Amino acid sequence: MKLSLVFLFVIVDIVKKGNLLPAAYGFLTTHSRHRVRGLMSYPKNAESNGVERDEVVEKLNQAKEIVAQAISIGAPAYNVGDIARCAQVYEQASNQLAPFLPNDLQSKLLKEVSGIDGMDDDSRAWALRGLFDSISGYQLPFSPMIIGDDSNIVFQPFDATILPAEPRPVMDSVMGGISEGSWVPELKTFRGTTSLANNGGFSSLRWRFQTPQNWSHAKGIYFQSLQHSSPTEHTFRLILKDATCEQIRLSNFKAVFANPNESKEPLLIPFSAFDQMEQMGNPLVGSPGFRPSVVTEIGIMAIKPTVVGSFELHFEEWGLYN
Ligand SMILES: *[C@@H]1O[C@H](CO)[C@@H](O)[C@H](O)[C@H]1NC(C)=O
Ligand SMILES: *[C@@H]1O[C@H](CO)[C@@H](O)[C@H](O)[C@H]1NC(C)=O
Repeated sequence: MKLSLVFLFVIVDIVKKGNLLPAAYGFLTTHSRHRVRGLMSYPKNAESNGVERDEVVEKLNQAKEIVAQAISIGAPAYNVGDIARCAQVYEQASNQLAPFLPNDLQSKLLKEVSGIDGMDDDSRAWALRGLFDSISGYQLPFSPMIIGDDSNIVFQPFDATILPAEPRPVMDSVMGGISEGSWVPELKTFRGTTSLANNGGFSSLRWRFQTPQNWSHAKGIYFQSLQHSSPTEHTFRLILKDATCEQIRLSNFKAVFANPNESKEPLLIPFSAFDQMEQMGNPLVGSPGFRPSVVTEIGIMAIKPTVVGSFELHFEEWGLYN
């Protein structure tokens, strides 16, 4: 474990210095140069967190497969100087992608692809690689959904006995950035500004528990009356840490959420959504899954590419549901 972590840090370092060719290391999606600005959209049919959602996510995963495959061929070609081949492979892949993408990603793809027509191979390769990175990094947000009266969901709000009153701000300053954010308790609002300066781009608040919480009786976390800035663009992340995360520097689990329709319904995020431990946004492949029986920290985050600039996130109540 130790060794592989060191390896990861080294890679991240290399990428930050910008020495990587467009293709290498597909899992490092957010650091490459010449990135096409992030995809700021989600499908119109994402409101349901049930079957429909599963289908959209499954197709999205197929799109990510296509992208990973293309990169695994195009990258080595580019790296040995065969830029034309790389551009060709990327273009072929981009032509297959549309049916697998959620609606709004599709329009984004088509727009990008039509924009590369007159470009030379190198620019095309970079542009498509940027688009591919956006697709690999895209996660379908959870949104509020209509819950039938017969659904028997039990809501257990967080209160002062569970949550510490004051969250701890964690900003991209840990990596040299200058983003800001704070919790306004009387308004139940998280507000701030994310900045891309110094390779930054996130702002978060963390509530740490005195002792690990055993939430194994619950299905997940809910928010009531969620509202936020730029409803159709901004997405936010819910962060959880369990006892394992405490052993691995800067690791956590995250799920993306948004309320694009400004719906008044509750937002439910199941623990099953926290299926991949990450470290500074990179998946720790092979790491253990989230354990709701030993939760040490909960937090909310605004992060690039969907949030750049000022943001506000408000909710009346949050807690556990089952
Ligand atoms: C938003 O509202 C539209 C129109 O009422 C609806 O079709 C769509 O499913 C809703 N949900 C999301 C997440 O856009
Ligand atoms: C957590 O609670 C469940 C019952 O809800 C219990 O079975 C389990 O042993 C507890 N786990 C820990 C780590 O305390």
